[in-house]
Amino acid sequence: MKKFARIIGTGSYLPKKVISNFDLEKTLDTTNEWITIRTGIKERRVVTDQSTCDLAIEASKKALEMASLKATDLDLIILATTTPDKIFPATATMLQHRIGASCPAFDLQAVCAGFVFALSTAQQYIENGSANNILVVGSETMSKIVDWNDRSTAILFGDGAGAVVVSSDNTTGIKHSKLYSDGSYMSSLHVNNDRINELGTIEMAGNEVYKIAVKRLSELAEETLNDCNMTSDDLTWMVPHQANIRIISAVAKRINLPMSKVILTLDKHGNTSAASIPLALDVAVRDGRIKKGDSLLFEGIGGGFSWGSVLVEY
Ligand code: COA
Repeated sequence: MKKFARIIGTGSYLPKKVISNFDLEKTLDTTNEWITIRTGIKERRVVTDQSTCDLAIEASKKALEMASLKATDLDLIILATTTPDKIFPATATMLQHRIGASCPAFDLQAVCAGFVFALSTAQQYIENGSANNILVVGSETMSKIVDWNDRSTAILFGDGAGAVVVSSDNTTGIKHSKLYSDGSYMSSLHVNNDRINELGTIEMAGNEVYKIAVKRLSELAEETLNDCNMTSDDLTWMVPHQANIRIISAVAKRINLPMSKVILTLDKHGNTSAASIPLALDVAVRDGRIKKGDSLLFEGIGGGFSWGSVLVEY
C-alpha cells in the first residue's frame, strides 16, 4: 500500500523584539513608504540573545503538541537553516538533544528554499518506509548575517522558526514535490565571505533576483499543477516563501490564482528564509483558514539559486 507523508502538526515561534520600517527610517536612508510599496514588509522580528536552535525548539514543541507525539516518537529531524549556530555540530543535533529526541538529525541548506527541500526529503523517507514520524523545521537568525548599513537588504529579512511533524498515512498527504538548483547564479544572492571562518553578510542584485524569482516560481507552479492534473482552481491555498509581495502577486497572477487564496505573513515577519513557509502555514492553520483536506501549494526560491515546490493535501 502506498504511504503518504502527511502533515499532522504545525508550530511556529517569533522572537519578541520588533523592528518596524519606522525604526529603520532612523538608521538608514529609507522610508516606511518605500519599503511598504516595494516589498509589502512593515515590520520584522529579530533576536536579542536567542540562537537559531532556541527558536527551533519553541516551534518544534508546538508542532509535536499538535501532532500528539513525544520527541521520543520521532524517527528523523531535518532542520533547514542558512544561519546554523555553529559550523558543527549540526544545529539539528542540538535541537534533537534539547527536545529529548534520540533519532538521527541533520541540517539542510537551501537558503529560502530550505523548507521545501527539507519537506521533499522527509517525503522520500516516509514513502520508502524508512521513517514514520519526521520533524521538519525551518529556523533562521537572518539578522546575524544582514549588513544593517545596507538599505537594499537590511529592510528585507527577519528571524523566526516554523516546524511541521510529517507522519506516515495510508490515505493522503504530500502529492508531489519538485526541486531545482542552478549555482551559476551565485553572485546574484550570496553571503560575501571568502573563507569558512569569516561570517560575511548578504549581498544581492535585487532587480535580477526579482525577475528570476518570478520566472522560475511561475514556471514551477505551472509545472507542479500540470504534473498533478490540477489547475489553480483546485488549490485551496498557496503558501509561498514570503520574500516580496510583488514576487508573490506576480506568480499568483501568472497561474490565475486570486490573492484571496494566498497566505501572506510578510508584512509582519519579513523574509525569514527557510522559516517563512512553515511560519505562514502555522499562522493559517491556527487561525482556522487552513483545514484538513485543503490543497496547499508551497513554493520558494533561495540564494544563488535553489527553488522548489511541494503540493500537499493537508
Ligand atoms: N529605501 C529607499 N531607496 C532604496 C532602498 C531603500 N531601502 N533600497 C534601494 N533603494 C533605491 C536604490 O538605490 C535605487 O536608487 P536609484 O534609482 O537612485 O539608483 C532605487 O531605490 C531603485 O532600486 P532598485 O534596486 O531598482 O529597486 P527595486 O524596485 O528593484 O526594489 C528590492 C528593490 C530589493 C525591493 C527588489 O528588487 C526585490 O525585492 N528583489 C527581490 C529580493 C528578494 O526577494 N530577495 C530574497 C529572495 S529569497
